[in-house]
Amino acid sequence: MSDGSPINELDVAALREEFPILAREAYGRPLVYLDSAASAQKPHAVIDAMSHAMEHSYANVHRGLHLLSNEATAAYEDARKTIAAFINAGSPDEIIFTSGGTDAFNLVAYAMGVADISEGDEIILSLAEHHSNIVPWHLLRDRKGVVLKWIDISDDGELDTKAYRALFTARTKLVAVTHMSNVLGALTPAKQLAAIAHEYGAKILFDGCQAGVHGRVDVREIDCDFYVMTGHKLYGPTGIGVLYGKKSVLAALPPFKGGGEMIDMVTTEAVTYNDPPHRFEAGTPPILEAIGLGAALQWMNAKGIDAIAAHETRLKDHVLEELAKFIFVRVYGQAPGKAPIIAFAVEGAHPHDVSAILDRTGVAVRAGHHCAQPLMKRLGVTATARASFAAYNTHEDVEALIAGLKKTHEMLS
Ligand SMILES: Cc1ncc(COP(=O)(O)O)c(C=O)c1O
Repeated sequence: MSDGSPINELDVAALREEFPILAREAYGRPLVYLDSAASAQKPHAVIDAMSHAMEHSYANVHRGLHLLSNEATAAYEDARKTIAAFINAGSPDEIIFTSGGTDAFNLVAYAMGVADISEGDEIILSLAEHHSNIVPWHLLRDRKGVVLKWIDISDDGELDTKAYRALFTARTKLVAVTHMSNVLGALTPAKQLAAIAHEYGAKILFDGCQAGVHGRVDVREIDCDFYVMTGHKLYGPTGIGVLYGKKSVLAALPPFKGGGEMIDMVTTEAVTYNDPPHRFEAGTPPILEAIGLGAALQWMNAKGIDAIAAHETRLKDHVLEELAKFIFVRVYGQAPGKAPIIAFAVEGAHPHDVSAILDRTGVAVRAGHHCAQPLMKRLGVTATARASFAAYNTHEDVEALIAGLKKTHEMLS
């Protein structure tokens, strides 16, 4: 996902100073935070942008004619512009602020269900989806009688594009697939998947909640209809997500939620709706959270998306190399170009016990089904441990994980 220009080296020691939480300890040991795929820590740039807005320029947006409302509106809309540029959208009007990734999937499922989808129509999903890109489609199936079809994946998490093509029929309305698995770290061939979907007249939505963090995303290059990201994994706050929608696609969609600001006119008899993106932002939006997310993406741009990705790749290579030396560890997913999201099992140990023991050594990893039960079933497990890396992680963090795993194995075998 790099544009080929030289990649700067990340100054990780200096960058870590920007994350106040990384200075704290866990059980008297240095904190080794390896759970960024669940939620990333926040740099001063984000904390300060949100505090500054609260201390200096806070009011409701779009509604007032006074100074503070104008300043808050400008900051909120600037964040929209930053996000549009971050994913190379054609216009900020193609960026809808949601309360998170989950809210964005529900928006599309609801609105397409009203506008575009009838009983017997088909939606294609993959077995690697997060529940937030599965359950809204089950709800739509229950509401409208749509048929859900599933693309299988390889053990490494790669989608079989031949099998994918074979799923399309004249009834296929939408493909909703991940751009990067939150368990296996595998990137899907987004541009190819979008081209095939469009050949069959279907729309395509990508879950970019992980892919948006680990490399450049260009929604126009991919040529997708929808792209979803979530703020808290992008070093931004919780309570904010992004739905990108192609202008022509959004123009044809009805609203998801009703309330203030999303209307053109309301009478006692009828309502007419505002244009996108405001049509999809009912009520007071997450103003501070949007400002925080804008600051987070500016922070990522300043560090360099390619520099962050190159650093994370080195960490991933390091950890995979070390884990390969352990016959008692099994890593799930080794696709080429995989992100620094490492799901693994320790022989004879439940993932929860692995996580609990690592935690006592100061190493925070996740354990469980990672909101991906169909993927767990495909892998033949009920849970895994998962270590995930971000811009602020170091090779010392990798070594702490490896030392913790040795200890775990000794204790549990
Ligand atoms: C791949 C993926 N999709 C969607 C989500 C849902 O995002 P949120 O919980 O922020 O709504 C997550 C979060 O874990 C994720 O990893």
